[in-house]
Amino acid sequence: MECGFSPQLHSNRPILARTCPGASPRTRTWTSFLASPCLKTGSQIHLPHSSLKICNGAACKAVTSAPFVETTEATELDWDNIGFGLVPTDYMYVMKCSSDGIFTNGELKKFGPVELNPSAGVLNYGQGLFEGLKAYRKEDGSILLFRPEENAKRMIDGASRMCMPAPTVEQFVDAVKMTVVANNRWVPPTGKGSLYVRPLLMGSGAVLGLAPAPEYTFLIFVSPVGNYFKEGLAPINLIVEDEYHRATPGGTGGVKTIGNYASVLKAQKIAKEKGYSDVLYLDAVHNKYLEEVSSCNIFVVKGNVISTPEIKGTILPGITRKSIIDVARSQGFQVEERAVPVEELLDADEVFCTGTAVVVSPVGSITYLGKRVEYGNRGVGVVSQQLYSALTSLQMGLAEDHMGWTVQLN
Ligand code: COI
Repeated sequence: MECGFSPQLHSNRPILARTCPGASPRTRTWTSFLASPCLKTGSQIHLPHSSLKICNGAACKAVTSAPFVETTEATELDWDNIGFGLVPTDYMYVMKCSSDGIFTNGELKKFGPVELNPSAGVLNYGQGLFEGLKAYRKEDGSILLFRPEENAKRMIDGASRMCMPAPTVEQFVDAVKMTVVANNRWVPPTGKGSLYVRPLLMGSGAVLGLAPAPEYTFLIFVSPVGNYFKEGLAPINLIVEDEYHRATPGGTGGVKTIGNYASVLKAQKIAKEKGYSDVLYLDAVHNKYLEEVSSCNIFVVKGNVISTPEIKGTILPGITRKSIIDVARSQGFQVEERAVPVEELLDADEVFCTGTAVVVSPVGSITYLGKRVEYGNRGVGVVSQQLYSALTSLQMGLAEDHMGWTVQLN
């Protein structure tokens, strides 16, 4: 049985929307809606979401949800000190589906608590995934997303591993766009941070015996963020974990399931109590090869060669990781994706981490079996700085995007 109509908000499907204050709603394409001059910062947008049409072939029906009115009131945030903590924003996006696997009737709702059955699959058996991507404000006031379709594809891969249906790439990307546009006023000014977009996919239906949930919820919320580590852009101090492991071969380390992150909290807490910024994990089989840091991938620089652990099911295939590999190669570095023995840290010129939240984070020191190695006089290494600048210039629209990675919203 099908859930009904699937939302197809892509460029060649009509939506009925009013984008300028006072204008009458008219049928337009999703692309032209997003390109409307009235979607720029400082304007008030009325999108009568109740009249948004979703179509399945020739048949269309209106989505019934509360209209959203974008508020352009200034936020009271101190943009210079936002850090990486949740700031409640105006809207979140919610879309559900039953076990038939078809997501429908996605809608923007006021940001707030979610009601879940106590027996929901996500609460009892951890059947859940999350994603993370960022929206940046350009100097002209428009907004850039960075490779959102990569997050969509990674969610589809993770959902397959976790026995969950997933939104299509198009549904995912359109939902991200809608959520960011609706929360426009929370996208920090250029250079002050970004809007972190957190898509979730969870087994929201009730189960008691161990089984896939009968209903799933896709949800997106957003929060303005600054630097992830309290060190800001200064180098972080890592400790190599030799007791706990993050992932095992055949497990779920290669997908972004919520359980991967709960399981690193203990080692992270112990490390932080000892003054380290975070934990670097080794492989579970040999306890010898680098895997990843709790929340990011790792790179080791030696001369012109940049090495990073290969993707083999136990580390997360980071989108920033993949982007940095391409950027580094385009700048003439030799990038090797391979098994990297922990001993190579002792001899490295530089080490840095990559991730959506951390971007490119230089490592100042690594402690392994009680021995501390320091890099770049504990300042930011030349290569880390060069790659950080190249990537963030693309993400913020300061450099021309020859890679075709950015998506402009308005
Ligand atoms: C991200 O970098 O977006 C992540 O998902 C890591 C998270 C622990 C903040």
